[in-house]
Amino acid sequence: MLWIVFLVGVAASKPLQNESISLYQTAQNTTDRITLKGNVSFEPDFKFSTSITVNRSAKYQEMLGFGGAFTESSAYVWSTLNATVQQRLLDLYFSKEGLQYSLGRIPIGSCDFALAWYSYDEVRDDANLTHFTVSHEKKWRIPFIRAAIESRSNWTTAPFKFVASPWSPPKWMKTNDFPYCPTSCFDCQLKAEYRDTYAMYMSKFITAFDELGVPTWAVTVQNEPEACPLLYAGMHFNPETERDFVRDHLGPRLANDHPAVKILAYDHNKDHVAKWAKVIYADAAAARYVWGTAVHWYTGDEFENVNATHYLAPDKPILATEATVAREKDPRAPAWENGEHYAHDMIGDFNNWVVGFIDWNLVLDMYGGPDHAGPAECEGLIKCGSDAMILADNSTQELYLQIFYYYMGHFSKFVSPGSVRVGVSASTNDLESTAFVTPANETVVIVLNRQDSATTYKLLDRLSGKAARITVPAHSIQTLVY
Ligand SMILES: *[C@@H]1O[C@H](CO)[C@@H](O)[C@H](O)[C@H]1NC(C)=O
Ligand SMILES: *[C@@H]1O[C@H](CO)[C@@H](O)[C@H](O)[C@H]1NC(C)=O
Ligand SMILES: *[C@@H]1O[C@H](CO)[C@@H](O)[C@H](O)[C@H]1NC(C)=O
Ligand SMILES: *[C@@H]1O[C@H](CO)[C@@H](O)[C@H](O)[C@H]1NC(C)=O
Ligand SMILES: *[C@@H]1O[C@H](CO)[C@@H](O)[C@H](O)[C@H]1NC(C)=O
Ligand SMILES: *[C@@H]1O[C@H](CO)[C@@H](O)[C@H](O)[C@H]1NC(C)=O
Ligand SMILES: *[C@@H]1O[C@H](CO)[C@@H](O)[C@H](O)[C@H]1NC(C)=O
Ligand SMILES: *[C@@H]1O[C@H](CO)[C@@H](O)[C@H](O)[C@H]1NC(C)=O
Ligand SMILES: *[C@@H]1O[C@H](CO)[C@@H](O)[C@H](O)[C@H]1NC(C)=O
Ligand SMILES: *[C@@H]1O[C@H](CO)[C@@H](O)[C@H](O)[C@H]1NC(C)=O
Repeated sequence: MLWIVFLVGVAASKPLQNESISLYQTAQNTTDRITLKGNVSFEPDFKFSTSITVNRSAKYQEMLGFGGAFTESSAYVWSTLNATVQQRLLDLYFSKEGLQYSLGRIPIGSCDFALAWYSYDEVRDDANLTHFTVSHEKKWRIPFIRAAIESRSNWTTAPFKFVASPWSPPKWMKTNDFPYCPTSCFDCQLKAEYRDTYAMYMSKFITAFDELGVPTWAVTVQNEPEACPLLYAGMHFNPETERDFVRDHLGPRLANDHPAVKILAYDHNKDHVAKWAKVIYADAAAARYVWGTAVHWYTGDEFENVNATHYLAPDKPILATEATVAREKDPRAPAWENGEHYAHDMIGDFNNWVVGFIDWNLVLDMYGGPDHAGPAECEGLIKCGSDAMILADNSTQELYLQIFYYYMGHFSKFVSPGSVRVGVSASTNDLESTAFVTPANETVVIVLNRQDSATTYKLLDRLSGKAARITVPAHSIQTLVY
């Protein structure tokens, strides 16, 4: 018996790269904001009731990255800041000291967070898109995106990956001849005779943005195809019409014009992602054009649905492409729970195969706007438009960082693109956790405590058999690096 135990012990023992753990923390009612609290030493394993165990041998998905959305509203707000504050905002998101964002979402044309409705070809029935132009974007968005690219290229050669998503084609391509969907989903669809034209429209967008120095990495077929919005740009697909559009029009067009650009299906809430993936992946001729699926978070956790989607087609990644919360508090007194919401969702998503996370508007004004759909109600600075990690007051040139900026940083600053998720398990439901090994071979463990009391736990690194005792305060998040 002793002999067997000895052999197992030797086989399982792999040394630690670092004998000590760097512990970063953000905690409520403290000044800790992604603060390096110190270095905790590993010691031989010991008995302790509450534990988080990391198994670096159990390897799962490779991570793509983290980012936010370059909406027209964000670009406009950024343009109203002075040069010093503009640079500070870029640094907060894209520099090495900031969130190190590597992903960006770019609406193709207007969306709810644009100053108004517009498209790239307003000339009716221009089937060959002779009048196509993206010149509208030269005022707000292109300068903002290019400044972000420059800010990132300042410290890394790893490129930005931009995911572009259309909200609506020009109205003349749609059955209701209108940018929004005021009556129903049924009459807010792509006209059959303009399917090829619309595929060409998306291809021309990619070419035009390339020429302006903004390369597209992927497109989603349609933002929120089930939504049919009353007050802002939208268009309806169902799983079958999206599958057919990709298979017969968008897929072949991009394969010819932009073979490196990936196509992501769905781009809507997690509740129906498996249903859509099932229909689209069942058709091999459509599926071969589809890199993966994109999801939003507005129907709640739904972690079992992204897991199920992964097992439908394990080689097709799932990317979270949008998340936001409504403005309910004065930005000068930010809501803690929004940070916990983001971290909870990311941990659940990543533990169920999601490869990255893109937040919505990078910056908004103090009212959570501008958005041309308009905030339903405004009570001073409370209950307005949408929340953003950074809110800007252009009269004082002050930036207000919301708590979810820091919670995002606990992931985005440490889980660099190419990191691989590894096994983690906790002995308690009070703590949520996920773990990765980075391309630099560092182990990153994220521990979220949303409870009203602190917890002391043992971090056990299974392969080395070494452990450390750590206390995670009430309403806090920790990133452990070793
Ligand atoms: C990564 O670190 C582990 C120890 O944590 C070590 O066993 C392994 O050899 C390292 N791998 C590389 C590629 O450096
Ligand atoms: C912890 O270790 C890191 C990396 O070795 C070092 O840069 C840092 O100064 C240390 N911090 C503290 C608080 O000891
Ligand atoms: C760690 O993961 C590997 C690979 O999945 C697995 O074979 C092993 O049993 C795991 N170890 C423990 C202690 O769970
Ligand atoms: C400042 O922001 C407000 C609210 O978004 C906007 O109405 C105003 O035009 C901006 N001021 C300047 C100088 O851009
Ligand atoms: C579009 O171009 C094709 C081929 O050049 C031409 O045959 C067709 O008449 C054009 N259609 C329109 C509406 O201009
Ligand atoms: C690049 O980094 C340097 C040093 O941190 C900084 O002074 C400069 O403003 C940065 N440039 C951009 C474009 O972010
Ligand atoms: C994910 O789905 C697989 C396949 O259906 C299932 O075996 C597994 O238990 C699921 N995992 C979770 C965490 O629900
Ligand atoms: C921008 O605004 C900030 C905050 O009011 C101020 O400190 C700074 O001097 C201004 N910079 C420029 C270039 O005007
Ligand atoms: C922080 O302070 C608020 C207000 O006093 C309180 O409700 C909350 O429980 C405190 N949180 C922690 C973690 O102490
Ligand atoms: C871990 O070790 C590697 C290689 O020695 C080193 O580059 C890295 O800074 C260390 N990380 C920490 C968190 O101490």
